[in-house]
Amino acid sequence: MEKKELARLEIWKQLALHAAGFDAPERHLRHLTQDPQRLAHFSASGGGLFLDLSRQRLDHKAMELLVKLARQRDVMPKMRQMATGATVNTTENRSALHMAARDFSGSAIAVSGADVMPEIRRVRDEIRRFAADVHDGRVVGSTGKRFADVVVIGIGGSYLGTEFVAEALKADAVEGVRLHFLSNVDIHCFGRIADAIDPERTLWVVISKSFTTAETMANAAQARAYMQEKGLDPSRHTVAVTAKGSPGDDGRQPALAVFHMFDFIGGRYSVTSAVGGVPLSLLFGYERFERFLKGAEEMDRHVLTAAEDQNLPLLAALTSLWNHNFLGYTAGAIIPYAAPLHKLAPHIQQLNMESNGKSATADGRLLDVETGPFLFGEPGTNAQHSFFQLAHQGRAFPIEFIGVLQPQPAYRGYAHRSRGVSNHQELYANLVAQAQALALGRDGDEAARRFTGNRPSTTILLNELSPENIGRLLAFYEAKTVMEGFLWGINPFDQFGVELGKQLAAGIREKMAAMNADPAATFDDLDPISRHYLERLFAAAK
Ligand code: F6P
Repeated sequence: MEKKELARLEIWKQLALHAAGFDAPERHLRHLTQDPQRLAHFSASGGGLFLDLSRQRLDHKAMELLVKLARQRDVMPKMRQMATGATVNTTENRSALHMAARDFSGSAIAVSGADVMPEIRRVRDEIRRFAADVHDGRVVGSTGKRFADVVVIGIGGSYLGTEFVAEALKADAVEGVRLHFLSNVDIHCFGRIADAIDPERTLWVVISKSFTTAETMANAAQARAYMQEKGLDPSRHTVAVTAKGSPGDDGRQPALAVFHMFDFIGGRYSVTSAVGGVPLSLLFGYERFERFLKGAEEMDRHVLTAAEDQNLPLLAALTSLWNHNFLGYTAGAIIPYAAPLHKLAPHIQQLNMESNGKSATADGRLLDVETGPFLFGEPGTNAQHSFFQLAHQGRAFPIEFIGVLQPQPAYRGYAHRSRGVSNHQELYANLVAQAQALALGRDGDEAARRFTGNRPSTTILLNELSPENIGRLLAFYEAKTVMEGFLWGINPFDQFGVELGKQLAAGIREKMAAMNADPAATFDDLDPISRHYLERLFAAAK
């Protein structure tokens, strides 16, 4: 198969050559950060965020070359094409219009000549009305009781982003509303939710673009059986969020309401559509959801209008590419010093790794350079007591630290000082210290106590964890992910890599179903290793 030779581009060679010089002692972060102008030169503000790259292993020349690469790869024109409805998802012949989901400009956005905005506004209005009806008790369960527990059934892009936002902003939850997520088909997950809810007061929100995803369909069926067992009418306890015309949209499974998502918004980019809109509005009200959308819209405007060298997601994407393709780091971590952001890393892990974990270009050739890094994360300071030993003295990986200046209003009252500082200040002290320790290191004669330093990190600062800022942060990471994809020339909107496992599981499921129906059946036609595992499962259940 023909290879797309990114590494042969002149600009790529220049970057590689320049990166090779970064092993020199005078390029150690210990020296680079001595420049009093370092922070001013390697930081930018925009779209409501502050981005600090001063502790990245970068210099002016590296930045200039990276911006040149972005120009040559047409990143900004492609972002603008994406935002105006072009078919940027070439392998699936679709637009990628997640920005339209939070567009309040009043302008038209056309896909195949038709403006998509009226439909988007219609769905927003439906969500606003439905959430108010539930909160005000106009829509109640089949025994006449108000809803209190909301269980979201969905997986992957139909779950992770919504959970991130829900966790980030749950301090603002409408009184008496509890949100639960049922994503895994593991029966322990269903069982734990069943243990925690009041079935008569539970609303199930089934979210699936395709309405065929095996885990989601199994959990939805399990929920229906559970409701029937409790004497409840499932159609009065269920809503669906799904693509227009999907099997969940054909009326065969009656529901209180069906909210549409659209094929021009991919699952992992869908938090600002009805996927996030329905559960988040039920959790904290439509008005807060709209504030979240407006924060995302502000970042989108920044993305599309800021100059390349001031464009936060582009600078972050270029830094990530520099680290992974030129400095040789294979992993990256996201470490928020704010516990409400504890589901940010799992969301970005899916967003980025499903988008950019590719080896083919958008025009169907094999790529000659590595793409998506391994991403993981955990809030600080917990992360410090977990894997930071390796971060400081083991194999290095770039870190994105996220700091928050103010705790959420609900918790600002807990201001007791220990050793002269509040808990929030203690947390912030650690954020500052970790980035410093990684960059500077510490010399010493004893190998075990030596810190090599020169370990890169970025710091992103937010004023507070408001709905607007969560929207900005989400849109920042979405844009960064797409820009990385465009830099590599891959399609960040498809996910064929998840297909093979799904297909094999379907075949194995069929064999199991045949055995359930007729215990005289065998697994003899399976390969011996798979047969071993299936025989053990059925033997254990006897
Ligand atoms: O993990 C693969 C995937 O197809 C994701 O891309 C998608 O978000 C998720 O499964 C769920 O799909 P659906 O919304 O169709 O249930």
